[in-house]
Amino acid sequence: MAVSDVGDLAGQLARSWGRRDIQELLSDSAITIGAGSPTDAGRSWIAPTQVENPIALAGGIPDGPTVPVAELRESLLAVLAEERDDSMTYGGLLGFEGLRESVARRQSVIEGMDLSPENFTMHNGSSGALDNICNAFLNPGDIAIVEGPSFSGTVRTIRGHMADVVETSIDEQGTSVDGVKACIERAVADGKRVKFVYVIPDFHNPSGLTMSLNRRLELLDVCAEYGVMILEDAAYTELYYDEPPPPSMFSLSGGQGVLRMGSFSKIIATGTRVGWVEAIPEYIDALARVRFDMGNNPLVQRALARYVDSGALEPHVERMRALYALKCKTLSESLMEDCEPYIRFIRPEGGFFLWVECIGVGSAELADAAAEEGLMFPTGSFFFKDGFDADKSHFRLAFSNASVDDLELASKRMKAAFLRVAD
Ligand SMILES: Cc1ncc(COP(=O)(O)O)c(C=O)c1O
Repeated sequence: MAVSDVGDLAGQLARSWGRRDIQELLSDSAITIGAGSPTDAGRSWIAPTQVENPIALAGGIPDGPTVPVAELRESLLAVLAEERDDSMTYGGLLGFEGLRESVARRQSVIEGMDLSPENFTMHNGSSGALDNICNAFLNPGDIAIVEGPSFSGTVRTIRGHMADVVETSIDEQGTSVDGVKACIERAVADGKRVKFVYVIPDFHNPSGLTMSLNRRLELLDVCAEYGVMILEDAAYTELYYDEPPPPSMFSLSGGQGVLRMGSFSKIIATGTRVGWVEAIPEYIDALARVRFDMGNNPLVQRALARYVDSGALEPHVERMRALYALKCKTLSESLMEDCEPYIRFIRPEGGFFLWVECIGVGSAELADAAAEEGLMFPTGSFFFKDGFDADKSHFRLAFSNASVDDLELASKRMKAAFLRVAD
């Protein structure tokens, strides 16, 4: 293209670029991942509805009105006043040392271990942590085992690193360790390398299930035998209703072969975008090798350190446990009262989700009918790697962000949806 008129350069470039297809330039990674956002896994759960006040029980988002905005505001203002220069420059490779100290202190109590800042690297949420882990450990063609169903954002990230995702089933005791072992043995027979197993042991997304202590020990055993790492996603661990879940695999193993991911997203707010990897220093060093983000968000990390150190997080989490327990109870009981012949579910002991099996009705058909009634939720297929047809009988209801009144109304709308589609 010969530029004839600099005044119209943008127009000439647009004509030139307009003839090209951007798809030709996409990386294999972008093509493999497909379209969409990390949370909808490329498939939107939003269905059209005419109802004026639709209720979306869709995302794993904390309760809105109780986000500790006043305390966070105070912490942010204090950082700007007292740590102006440090908060306004690039952060260190592993995140703000003060926050790593605060998180190490908290996690030492939670895990019953003696952890130090060397055991932590801070990230853009646990999503950023996972991406860093994939960068450090996955080669194209490696295998990563995930639970089926699992958090779609993780599956998408792993696929973006050109690794093969293999699913194993999950039951009331948690991940099937026999399934994991069979996957590993198949991979070895095919000359492939399984690098890690990704699990959400506590109040799983989407199933709400918690892995038993025995399964944790069995998984550690099998993974150690084959040199396969465990990625333990602790996004919901602290949000138990009565009793804490069994000890983490990180604490059971002393960190050998385990990387544990944590986050402020579910216990404070998803907008904090601060999560971390908890691991032995050798693994933290491996992650630092492939990290080039100039240190994420020194301003927010400093504010979070102040908030955590003020002691205000513990009572907040305590209140959240009671609130989510109430929401879970409300939705579970309302659904049983309104929709019992059509549904089956195991009531979770913590977390944000009800994973519901529909009886005699397809979940996609139900979701369409529910949208017409003003109720939106993702169907089971969203949580399997192969999408649309992978699951036809489940759906996930996220009760965390809806009000108690809306949860009761949602149940009535669900009943109306079942009546539309049931024979
Ligand atoms: C199991 C699980 N892990 C990780 C995430 C993402 O967390 P973060 O906001 O810390 O990136 C989610 C979000 O829904 C999740 O459900």
